[in-house]
Amino acid sequence: MELFEAIHTQKAMRRLKPDPVDEALVWKLLDAAICAPNGSNRQPWRFVVVRDPELKRGLQDLYAEGVASVTRPDGAPADARMQSSARYLIERLAEVPVLIVATVRLADIASVTPPGACIYPALQNLMLAARALGLGTVLTTAHRGREKQVRELLGIPEGNETMALIPLGWPEGRFGPPPRRPAEEVTYWDGWGTTRARP
Ligand SMILES: Cc1cc2nc3c(=O)[nH]c(=O)nc-3n(C[C@H](O)[C@H](O)[C@H](O)COP(=O)(O)O)c2cc1C
Repeated sequence: MELFEAIHTQKAMRRLKPDPVDEALVWKLLDAAICAPNGSNRQPWRFVVVRDPELKRGLQDLYAEGVASVTRPDGAPADARMQSSARYLIERLAEVPVLIVATVRLADIASVTPPGACIYPALQNLMLAARALGLGTVLTTAHRGREKQVRELLGIPEGNETMALIPLGWPEGRFGPPPRRPAEEVTYWDGWGTTRARP
């Protein structure tokens, strides 16, 4: 698939089939992830690939608790469609064939760098590669409301922090353009406030 087609049709896919995902495909995504830029090339990422049904059930419970503890940044309720797909994921997370928990080693991160900055580029690589293969993903962080418990469940040692939980599977629905404000509306040229029409 052409890169720009993948970029322009990748969106949050929360309705995923329970059908298995071949391990070779998971490696392909991880190989794409680790090509990403990262501070001083310390490669602070460690990924925990979860396929065990019991661990997935544990993660589903913690994810649901985490969602309940989260306040949306803008305080506004999500639109009805997103709410419904978010609810779907909360109720079926354990049925998703693969859950990828992305962590960083805190010792590898410079104190000036926000921890997520060293791993979200890798996760975007992973999600775009998944899109190119027809696999659905959604970057989630709500489990962080139960960070300690998630680390205990997966045996993640002290000094490492989870940055995202990415459900991975064959999508029920279709990929398509994500709803976004146009770039012209969110871009200023040569200083804040000066917008520009495209030539
Ligand atoms: C930092 C971050 C945290 C997110 N956390 C969650 C989450 O906990 N649960 C969830 O269902 N989606 C989560 N999302 C996905 C967003 O809701 C999604 O990217 C956004 O609504 C745009 O969706 P779209 O690409 O389908 O338009 C998160 C996305 C980001 C970038």
